[in-house]
Amino acid sequence: MTDRSNGYDPVADRFAAIRSDIGVEVVRDWARTLPAGAGVVDIGCGTGWPVATTLADAGCAVAGIDASPTLLAAFRRALPGADTACEAAEDSDFFGRRFDGAVAIGLLFLLSEAAQAALIARVGRALHPGGRFLFTAPRHAVTWHDTLTGRVSRSLGEGGYRTLLADAGFHPPRIIADNGGNDCFTAVAASTERA
Ligand SMILES: C[S@@+](CC[C@H](N)C(=O)[O-])C[C@H]1O[C@@H](n2cnc3c(N)ncnc32)[C@H](O)[C@@H]1O
Repeated sequence: MTDRSNGYDPVADRFAAIRSDIGVEVVRDWARTLPAGAGVVDIGCGTGWPVATTLADAGCAVAGIDASPTLLAAFRRALPGADTACEAAEDSDFFGRRFDGAVAIGLLFLLSEAAQAALIARVGRALHPGGRFLFTAPRHAVTWHDTLTGRVSRSLGEGGYRTLLADAGFHPPRIIADNGGNDCFTAVAASTERA
């Protein structure tokens, strides 16, 4: 079967072993901006720790999507009641639902430029008006090799993401650095329904 996880399933155990809690404070602060009991889809959710577990602790109803069967199995153990889908973000219909929030931590830059653009557009459509999107990517356009998988990662940079977010109906993003120096984009879906 084709690996859609951009090389993460074969290194799942190693990824799980080295994942730190870097970025948790940004996720926790972001969760405070959501309505009580918000429905949040975690795209590229990994094991669920620490992102989805932080969201669940904040009272969110989290659903997880990941293309790695091994990592999603760990997510299901960590959040037994959560909706989950083992599928590529590029193909996902986000459970055929709309959400109050979407997070994609450590995912976007694993995808091709075209796939990143398509995903941001579909996140825009999957959010309720006023819904919020949090994702990580270097604010400078850059390519590098993922330290775990060796595969090429690519950030489209602040300008690229600003354009894609605007095209997808988001207000201009805020960009903050987490405690590990990772750039985090937060954007709010325009409250007017788009055609
Ligand atoms: C760097 S890890 C981040 C995991 C998690 N978000 C976290 O912060 O711990 C990237 C995750 O994206 C998943 N992934 C990679 N390509 C994907 C794709 N095309 N669709 C869905 N998930 C994907 C990997 O399996 C992995 O769980």
